[in-house]
Amino acid sequence: MPQRQSGAAPDVAIEFIQAPLADLDVDSIVVAVPGGDDDWSAGALIADAELDGSLKAALADADFNGKPGSTFVLPTPGMLKAKRVVVVGLNADDASEEDVRQAFGAGAMAAKSAKSAAVACIVPEGAAGATGTYRAATEGFLLGLYDFQTYRSGDEKPNVERLVFVGDETADAGEGVRVGQALAAGVYLARDMVFEPGNTIYPESLARVAEETARHVELEYEVFDEVQLAEMGAGAIVAVGQGSEHLPRLVRMTYTPSGESVATVALVGKGITFDTGGMSLKTGAGMVPMKTDMAGSAAVLGAMRAVAELDLPITIHGIIAAAENMPSDTAYRPSDVLKAMNGKTIEVISTDAEGRLVLADALVYAAGLGSEVMIDLATLTGAKVVALGEESVAVFSNDDDLAEAIIAAADESGELFWHMPLWDSLRSQLDSEIADMKNTGGRGGGSITAALFLSEFAEGKRWAHLDIAGAAWTGSSKGYTPKGATGVAVRTLVTYLERLAEA
Ligand code: BES
Ligand code: MN
Ligand code: ZN
Repeated sequence: MPQRQSGAAPDVAIEFIQAPLADLDVDSIVVAVPGGDDDWSAGALIADAELDGSLKAALADADFNGKPGSTFVLPTPGMLKAKRVVVVGLNADDASEEDVRQAFGAGAMAAKSAKSAAVACIVPEGAAGATGTYRAATEGFLLGLYDFQTYRSGDEKPNVERLVFVGDETADAGEGVRVGQALAAGVYLARDMVFEPGNTIYPESLARVAEETARHVELEYEVFDEVQLAEMGAGAIVAVGQGSEHLPRLVRMTYTPSGESVATVALVGKGITFDTGGMSLKTGAGMVPMKTDMAGSAAVLGAMRAVAELDLPITIHGIIAAAENMPSDTAYRPSDVLKAMNGKTIEVISTDAEGRLVLADALVYAAGLGSEVMIDLATLTGAKVVALGEESVAVFSNDDDLAEAIIAAADESGELFWHMPLWDSLRSQLDSEIADMKNTGGRGGGSITAALFLSEFAEGKRWAHLDIAGAAWTGSSKGYTPKGATGVAVRTLVTYLERLAEA
């Protein structure tokens, strides 16, 4: 079962200490400096002075370029309690929050490689202000340390356990750290869930993790089993889930603000705990990555975990549509006709186009809760990967302002989102001879026809669909995102909600 359980907090204790570098009882000190001889922050200059100028001298010798993400390790034999200084590139004056994340993510990873248990960070106050800078530094640092160790036997690999920010804990800096920790906890939870394989995460256990999380951070929680779903008329999710001995579940978590609520938003996640393709069976190789097919619901869970700690004046529903797509004598078939919760009928062409089916019912259910805005997240189509590559998220919406607000939040979060068209002219690909629509179109524009299918279940609400196929997993470590599950969209969703609350 998941490593960090419902708490999902990174196991790093964070504190502020104001002291000379020589006295810091840590293994590594991370200090951010720009390339060349540009304006060094006050903290970096003090560090250089305390090292008798050897920092500047060593960097000049090394031709350190100062780019965010670059690092240089300077051993400090006998000079400090800390065994090394990890220099990270950052020009504080024009640094974006993403630069700060990259810099401290790289610093954390370098300190971890050097087996540091305790790390001090000197954070320059730059363009992003204290709250934004400390938030980004905390995010980058914690996210870079992520490691999924649940199934390795033998000694646990060492990781950083203590983070000391050098300086006084001002209210702004403290707030930034607090929010950064909440975001990292949400991303950790999402990554943990996506790493877990199909034999540990199935609809019932996914619902259980959601329940534990809801209890831990005090969210309302409700779950519907297959019998209740059939009674509700949710015939699409019931059909997708009926081939597995692990029957489907629909989960609702709700965050209710303590004071006034200015908006109601639903986050809806595809939670296919394993996608074999069903009777339209995938190939062996095509199936291997499909434990990640619940990444949309993992992002919803992670975002709910984070928002619960942020005191936003918005009512937020987190909906998880959980099913396992299996072939069996009870499985749904190509050519079956299903009826979704809004009464629309669907002719199944491919049982492998299952994500849009479970989301259809989940969206209708979310609309019924009075959500003004609905955002669904799904590893929905291979066509998205063909169109935009692995790392990006495709954004479809029936409201351009909503799409642009989500993309602005992604830019702020350092995630790569791109606005895609919902061309009505492609809708005829879904026309069916015997039902209101087919569940697949032709080969061309596959991520668009999938989004057009979902739009039939938006029930007149402002709705956006995020196709995170490919983006939920990375084959190589990049910046502060280690190899494997990425936790994509958690930070963007939370940032979108924060900005919505300010509007
Ligand atoms: N879960 C897959 C999509 C997917 C593919 C996610 C690759 C991540 C990486 C989805 O359920 C699926 O099988 N989609 C089909 C749709 C087709 C049958 C219309 C696809 O993309 O091939
Ligand atoms: Mn599929
Ligand atoms: Zn799928």
